[in-house]
Amino acid sequence: MKASSLSFQAAVVLVLAGMGWGVVMAASGDHSTMPAHAHLNLLGWVSLFLFGLFYHLHPTLDRSRAALAQVWAWIVATVVLTIGVGLVHSGRPVGDPIAAVASLAIIADMALFGWLVLRREAPSPRTAAPLPAE
Ligand code: HEM
Repeated sequence: MKASSLSFQAAVVLVLAGMGWGVVMAASGDHSTMPAHAHLNLLGWVSLFLFGLFYHLHPTLDRSRAALAQVWAWIVATVVLTIGVGLVHSGRPVGDPIAAVASLAIIADMALFGWLVLRREAPSPRTAAPLPAE
């Protein structure tokens, strides 16, 4: 599977869950877990969709295992972070270490994405300078 396809599909699943969460908050009048809803939608919908667009624009990277691993790690870490933040804001401190570990995983995964972007943008040795015969 291409990284962009996984990004787009997971983004839709996560935003549907996030919207459902928003409807439940609005209907119940209990907005205490609003930070978890916001993180689920922003990491799970907005960020994943943007990853998908970037990978779609770079077809070689899109088919790489590194990009696919980056997207999977993002999906898992987003779900775990959402659970952790949701627990904390519904009065269960057990969510604190869960959110902490997931947040570190998300930062590391964003660093991986940054490395993939830089590697993609860096000129390869073959194109950086013309060969003497050219
Ligand atoms: C059916 C769709 C949605 C519903 C019903 C919904 C509902 C809500 C509710 C009830 C709140 C709490 C507001 C408050 O207590 O002040 C909230 C906050 C928030 N939502 Fe949603 N939401 C939806 C979709 C989204 C999406 C798609 C995103 C992001 C892409 C999003 C991002 C946020 C953010 C960032 C906040 C926090 C706002 C603040 O800090 O004041 N929501 N939402």
